Amino acid sequence: MYNNIETSLAHLQEFSTIKDPYAPSHFPIYNTGTFDLKKQNGDKIYDYTRSDNPTREVLENFFTHAENAAGCVCTHTGIAAVALLFETVLKANSHILVEADCYGGTFRLLKIFKDKYNITVHFANFLEHETLENILKNNPIDLVLCESPTNPGLKIIDLKVVSRLCKQYHALFAVDNSLATFISQKPLDLGADFSLFSTTKYISGHGSVVAGAIVAKTQELAKELHYYANAHGRSQNPMDVFLISLGLPTLKIRMEEHLKIALEIIDFLEQQSYIESINFPALLNHPQYALAKEQMKYIPAVFTVDFKSVELAEKFIENTKIFGEKCSFGSPDSRVEIPAKISHASFSKEELAAIGISDSTVRFSIGLENVEDLIEDIKQALK
Ligand SMILES: Cc1ncc(COP(=O)(O)O)c(C=O)c1O
Repeated sequence: MYNNIETSLAHLQEFSTIKDPYAPSHFPIYNTGTFDLKKQNGDKIYDYTRSDNPTREVLENFFTHAENAAGCVCTHTGIAAVALLFETVLKANSHILVEADCYGGTFRLLKIFKDKYNITVHFANFLEHETLENILKNNPIDLVLCESPTNPGLKIIDLKVVSRLCKQYHALFAVDNSLATFISQKPLDLGADFSLFSTTKYISGHGSVVAGAIVAKTQELAKELHYYANAHGRSQNPMDVFLISLGLPTLKIRMEEHLKIALEIIDFLEQQSYIESINFPALLNHPQYALAKEQMKYIPAVFTVDFKSVELAEKFIENTKIFGEKCSFGSPDSRVEIPAKISHASFSKEELAAIGISDSTVRFSIGLENVEDLIEDIKQALK
């Protein structure tokens, strides 16, 4: 719509499919299950909200624009966007190739697809391009999926390289863009076929909703997504669209501020004797620092800290007052969690060790509080 995303974000109502005669500054919420087929005289005929809804379409049209896509489906959760991707692309006996460092819910869903539909799941480290190519060359892979940055390992995957390999071996490529968001990174521009994201996180930004979305590069793939979303009942309800629309316009300034606070906290943590190491793609010592800077405009304020012992990590989590012990990220309130216990509890110890996560690893999601208050909270927790 507009050339610069900030302008589009401030004018979401202009992404409506239908023309409102009253030109409201915020689009109306059509919180209805059905529409009367005999009495409509609008630009488009609607019948049932599971299939199409004018409120949801505003968000779908916006995400299509924001990710340079051909179409979008907004889903009732972020993991429903992952499920919809699998339901759309995979068939019984399909093969899927997934980055081993993936969100715990995605990992659990893959196990279900493997056991119920005989899907072969290949896990790999997507930093090893030769290994990836060998798997693609030697197996009939239908779909390749990764996050970048990965969660919780925070690796940066070279999306252009993986896209090129997928094209070469005729596999579809999907990127989970939940951490970076479209304001930072546009996977379809780098060659992916799908980009999906949990809008629960930075996009809605206020911890008030659980939701997701998936966009596709071609009309054909977008049509397929829409078909399966309707058939499987994956679509998002209009009230959640409203909640997301309240957070969206401030996405850019929130991402900038989250990052600024995170860097100040890291400056403090780096000087503490109880810290073993910090993993954050915005730091010069991160192995993919250069790629992170090239691929993302704003690095999301999620990092992991390895404490010198499990006891210290547990003491820290137990005693913080401002940092809540909560899963998820991208909210105004700062959060800490031990991934091995919460968000990635479905991984075995060995699987976590392979992606660099142990019982003394704490994941931080930095919110929007006063940085001095956050540092004081860290100090008092480990007194
Ligand atoms: C990377 C990633 N993808 C998908 C999801 C699932 O999203 P939701 O919790 O909105 O279902 C999460 C949730 O934490 C996530 O971290």
